[in-house]
Order: sequence, then structure tokens, then C-alpha cells
Amino acid sequence: MTVIHTERLVLRHARLDDVAAFHAILSNPVAMRWWSSLPHASVEETRTWVEGMMTPDVGYILHPDAWGQGLAREAVGAAIDHVFAERMTDIATADVDPENPGSIRLLERLGFTRTGSAERTWNIGGEWKDSLYFALTRDAWQARLRTAS
Ligand SMILES: CC(C)(COP(=O)(O)OP(=O)(O)OC[C@H]1O[C@@H](n2cnc3c(N)ncnc32)[C@H](O)[C@@H]1OP(=O)(O)O)[C@@H](O)C(=O)NCCC(=O)NCCS
Repeated sequence: MTVIHTERLVLRHARLDDVAAFHAILSNPVAMRWWSSLPHASVEETRTWVEGMMTPDVGYILHPDAWGQGLAREAVGAAIDHVFAERMTDIATADVDPENPGSIRLLERLGFTRTGSAERTWNIGGEWKDSLYFALTRDAWQARLRTAS
């Protein structure tokens, strides 16, 4: 099972004993403002969500107490490094709420570029949300790494 170590973080697969920690984040209305569902109403809902985390998607959500320290950039950057180094895909894509400035800035700082947009893509609790689409190719990521080193 893959474990990724960065300067401040250990990235590993989710486990069922993470449910309480995830629930503290996924039930938080501030953290969930731009997420693809309403805040979780019960620990059982979070348990079902953790059990379903078996697809290759990368998502990121931190408790608001941990925002603004560069942790998402460190974690998502390491995950992208891994995915491209292991040749799991040639392109990483993202679908972001246009009103989510933190996520948009994070993607742009990692080198993602905008590829398009669409209206009324997500219905969250009866409210329609739009999408901005971003992409980053392996070639672009590796070119950035070469420039940075
Ligand atoms: C998006 C999220 C993971 C960012 O986490 P974070 O650890 O605070 O982000 P970082 O500190 O790594 O910041 C990355 C960049 O985004 C910027 N940024 C972060 N939050 C921001 C905000 N609210 N507004 C504007 N810029 C913001 C940072 O300044 C930084 O840019 P810089 O390198 O130019 O200084 C966090 O805000 C979060 O959990 N949000 C709720 C869940 C969510 O919306 N997930 C994404 C769904 S698509």
C-alpha cells in the first residue's frame, strides 16, 4: 500500500478508524461550503463515504483550523508527483466551484490551467452550482519541476 512522506505530512489510504476525524471535517459547514454534498449529518454518513473512497480520484479538504499553512499545496503536489511518476495517468483534471477561491488558487499554483466551464453542474441540497474545469499534463508538471530545480 502506497504511503507518501512529505516534509510535514504522511499521505496514506483512509482507514475505518479515520471516520471520527473525517466526520469533524465533513460535518463542518465552513469546510463543506464548496463540496459536492451538504455537510454530513451523521457519523454513519461519513462511514459510508470513507468506505466508498476506493476510486482513483484525488480530493482535498482540510479542517478550517489547518487552512493557510501551505498543507494542501504540499499534499496535492506530492500526490500529483506520485501519480505522474507511477504513470497512472497522463493528465490530472479538476472540477471546482467558481466561487471557491482557495481551491482555484491552489490549482493555479500547482500549474493547472483552465480548460472550460459549465453552468448548473451540481445540485447541492436544492441549490445549483457551476463548474470551472482545470487540467495539468504530466509533461507540463515535469517541465515545471525542471524549471524549479
Ligand atoms: C482548498 C483547501 C484544501 C486549501 O487548503 P490550504 O492548506 O489552506 O491551502 P494552501 O495553504 O496550500 O494554499 C494554496 C494557495 O491558495 C491560496 N489560498 C488558500 N486559501 C485561499 C482563499 N480562501 N482565498 C484565496 N487564496 C487562498 C494560498 O494563499 C496559496 O497561494 P500562494 O501559494 O500564492 O500563497 C482548503 O481551503 C479547504 O479545505 N477548503 C474546503 C474544501 C474544498 O473546498 N476543497 C476543494 C473542493 S474542489
